[in-house]
Amino acid sequence: MAKRVVLAYSGGLDTSVAVRWMIEEWGVEVVCVLVDVGQDVESSESFEDIRARALAAGALECVLVDAKTEMAEEFCARAIAANALYESKYPLVSALSRPVIVRHLVDQARRFGAQAVAHGCTGKGNDQVRFEVGTHALAPDLEVLAPARNWGMTRADSVDYARKWDIPIKATKEKIYSIDENLWGRAIECGAIEDPWAAPPEEPYTLTRVVDTAPVEVTVRFESGVPVALDGEALPLAALIARLNGVAGATGYGRLDMVENRRVGIKSREVYECPAALALIAAHRDLEDLVLERDVHHEKARLEPRWSELVYDGMWFSPLKEALDAFMDETQRHVTGEVRLRFEAPGLLRIVGRRSPKALYDYGLATYDAEDTFRHADSEGFVRIYGLGVQTWAARQGAKNATPPQS
Ligand code: ARG
Repeated sequence: MAKRVVLAYSGGLDTSVAVRWMIEEWGVEVVCVLVDVGQDVESSESFEDIRARALAAGALECVLVDAKTEMAEEFCARAIAANALYESKYPLVSALSRPVIVRHLVDQARRFGAQAVAHGCTGKGNDQVRFEVGTHALAPDLEVLAPARNWGMTRADSVDYARKWDIPIKATKEKIYSIDENLWGRAIECGAIEDPWAAPPEEPYTLTRVVDTAPVEVTVRFESGVPVALDGEALPLAALIARLNGVAGATGYGRLDMVENRRVGIKSREVYECPAALALIAAHRDLEDLVLERDVHHEKARLEPRWSELVYDGMWFSPLKEALDAFMDETQRHVTGEVRLRFEAPGLLRIVGRRSPKALYDYGLATYDAEDTFRHADSEGFVRIYGLGVQTWAARQGAKNATPPQS
């Protein structure tokens, strides 16, 4: 009996060619799964057209899975809790969607009795790592196939291959950018972007074009670390993210231009547009400043980059990531309140206010006005004992730089 494979299908050139190529070269049966993580599946063509392409390529079936809610509530929400920015910048757009897709690949592999899953990634990127490590974490028995790593075709070869097999593709031999998108934003690579000195071209951006230069103010409400309302209107997280992408993006906010370290040892220059992701993380961080106890806050800040690295590196389903999630969850219990965001075109975000019923900010303790409740006299003993070790050291051994340099 032929081996059956479930392929992560995007509807694009590479994964369409992959269907036929695997049938021809490896003699397998292919089931396509298109996972909607908010990439606007039906923006330019209907799912029926995409499905027809998969079937024309030789797929047994093409399944559409709507995973937008899951992407938002289980993946973006965790990224917000962890203030997740890889290398202090990138909000993990593609890295967050891969484990969502992996879950559904494994699920459909069980449903269709498949022995393997497949993806269309090349050998140079992070996404292959995320697909493969993720699949093996959920299903150690499943094989993972990567036809695009084996076929040695250029883009032009793939277009010829599709024509030869009558696969109705829209792609042409010149494709300028490689773009991956989902609810959390868009990742853009290739073309002129590959020269790190060249300013990024304007054309691949779609979410962050300035529509209106008037400043916009938005209030985000969080409950236990999760954004739950915009300007007082309660929204499911997926809808809230989509709305904020529109509002913030229209002021030009949310672009990133960075050189990053891929897991496979390559530095690459990429640009991103992720208005809602960056704005929600900034707002969440600001609210944490108000409500987290100092030691928890400082320790959390040390663990956040580790969480982001694990997720970037394909370790979403791993014991350390799960342990860190438990820590993050515990820290989020009191992260409830509101944050005022002010977007000023082009591309500036200022946080202008925050409040919380759980705030540790105490006006009486903080103020220099008449309402001051802080016991100033207590500081005398505190500071003396706090500095006692240094004072003793100075008296017995001397501070090295006690006298200013003579000029
Ligand atoms: N460099 C980013 C990451 O590794 C984006 C990858 C985008 N993927 C793509 N197939 N264009 O997460």
